[in-house]
Amino acid sequence: MNISIFGTGYVGLVSGACLAEVGHNVVCMDVDPVKIEKLKTGILSIWEPGLEALVEHNVMEGRLRFTTDAAHAVQHGQVQFIAVGTPSDEDGSADLQYVLAVAESIARHMQDYKVIVNKSTVPVGTADKAQARVAQVLAERGVKILFDIVSNPEFLKEGAAVNDFLKPERIIVGTESERAQTLMRELYEPFNRNHERTIFMDARSAELTKYAANAMLATKISFINEMANLAERLGADIEEVRKGIGADSRIGYHFIYPGCGYGGSCFPKDVKALVHTAQQVGYDAQLLQAVEAINDIQKTTLFTKLAAHFGGEAQLVGKTIAVWGLAFKPNTNDMREAPSCTLMEALWQSGAIVQAYDPVAMEEAGRIYGKHAGLTLCGDKYSALQGADALAICTEWQQFRAPDFAEMATNMRSKVIVDGRNLYQPQKLQAEGWIYFSVGRTAPSSATTHRMVESS
Ligand SMILES: NC(=O)c1ccc[n+]([C@@H]2O[C@H](COP(=O)([O-])OP(=O)(O)OC[C@H]3O[C@@H](n4cnc5c(N)ncnc54)[C@H](O)[C@@H]3O)[C@@H](O)[C@H]2O)c1
Repeated sequence: MNISIFGTGYVGLVSGACLAEVGHNVVCMDVDPVKIEKLKTGILSIWEPGLEALVEHNVMEGRLRFTTDAAHAVQHGQVQFIAVGTPSDEDGSADLQYVLAVAESIARHMQDYKVIVNKSTVPVGTADKAQARVAQVLAERGVKILFDIVSNPEFLKEGAAVNDFLKPERIIVGTESERAQTLMRELYEPFNRNHERTIFMDARSAELTKYAANAMLATKISFINEMANLAERLGADIEEVRKGIGADSRIGYHFIYPGCGYGGSCFPKDVKALVHTAQQVGYDAQLLQAVEAINDIQKTTLFTKLAAHFGGEAQLVGKTIAVWGLAFKPNTNDMREAPSCTLMEALWQSGAIVQAYDPVAMEEAGRIYGKHAGLTLCGDKYSALQGADALAICTEWQQFRAPDFAEMATNMRSKVIVDGRNLYQPQKLQAEGWIYFSVGRTAPSSATTHRMVESS
């Protein structure tokens, strides 16, 4: 099938490359000429496992092309995907200007029947808005051309996006048009060979399914973080609790890892947008507001622990803090809403300086913070520790899981680790002379107090 995709970010580019991989002819359109020029020469602005090779392969095979020409893209595809950003507006609502601009552009150039498929995460009712916008432009043009709007939210995870797209757990298609359903069935047929993964529903339910999924995942994270904060204060170990509750098949082990909060381009904005949608229909979404509030606090936990360790915020002036992990999660260079940003900005505010390392997000950090006086980007994880007063771990990259602690100790000014991802065994590190803080496990000072109380 001929397919056009508007937007070549995480969703657009991954979708384009994967749809080309299964044999479709794909044209990807973006308004960013620099991005498109780079893509034409095989340079990707995002880092995603397996994506570069997939893009290269399909470009070579002639099934994947890039353009900034909207008219050309509209003419090419019978199916037109919208995969542009829906950032948070000031009031927390999703900003639909890019989605509607694409719908308008398709309407302006289309000459025959099109299925307009929205992959961006959009509030319930957006399909109706897009329908009205396209109809309005066609009326202005004085033409009668049939079209369908389909809601087809994307569930890929950054860091595993290619695999998720090629082997989806489910494909949600929101439309009541039989013509559009037939085309969508054909489009996704290569992904359903093993068993049927497509779930058809109405557009509104499809739109809400995406928000409900992200809200559920964010809720799991905030829930375990709340338990972790309780465990810390009660002298319990959240890692034991996690195993204990995960063993219950009704709960399961997925997505209940305590940490320094969720980030990324989706959970924070999608939870906010759903709270806003609820307000608009007169419903006070208390659980979602709590999920967001807990996460906001959790993102400050590393800073709070560092400040407490050094005897208050004022004592952070002139301290050097090593930061391992800048991306909001492993296997991506995406730093949007990353806990590392919250931490570094708080440290700079207090007069500390940061020596940071991330396996793939260094360029992205340079792009965001430029030549910030308080930030040194280091070539590897050990050089980031040189002369550091403490190490803070923000992302659970594999290469941080089993470091050489002896080498770390020789590089650092003091043996202090504040771990936002619970990578190490507290007893082991304490036995080796480290002061080790993690999430939801008894902090060093109170551990000592407990032991003293027990022995007396
Ligand atoms: N990133 C994820 O993991 C993920 C997962 C599922 C769903 N989503 C949703 O998918 C949507 C896109 O997310 P993303 O992370 O790919 O965004 P992104 O910011 O990485 O990319 C968006 C792209 O759209 C382009 N664009 C903007 N206006 C355009 C226009 N009029 N025509 C063509 N291109 C245009 C931008 O230049 C940019 O390259 C969002 O709604 C997001 O919530 C994202």
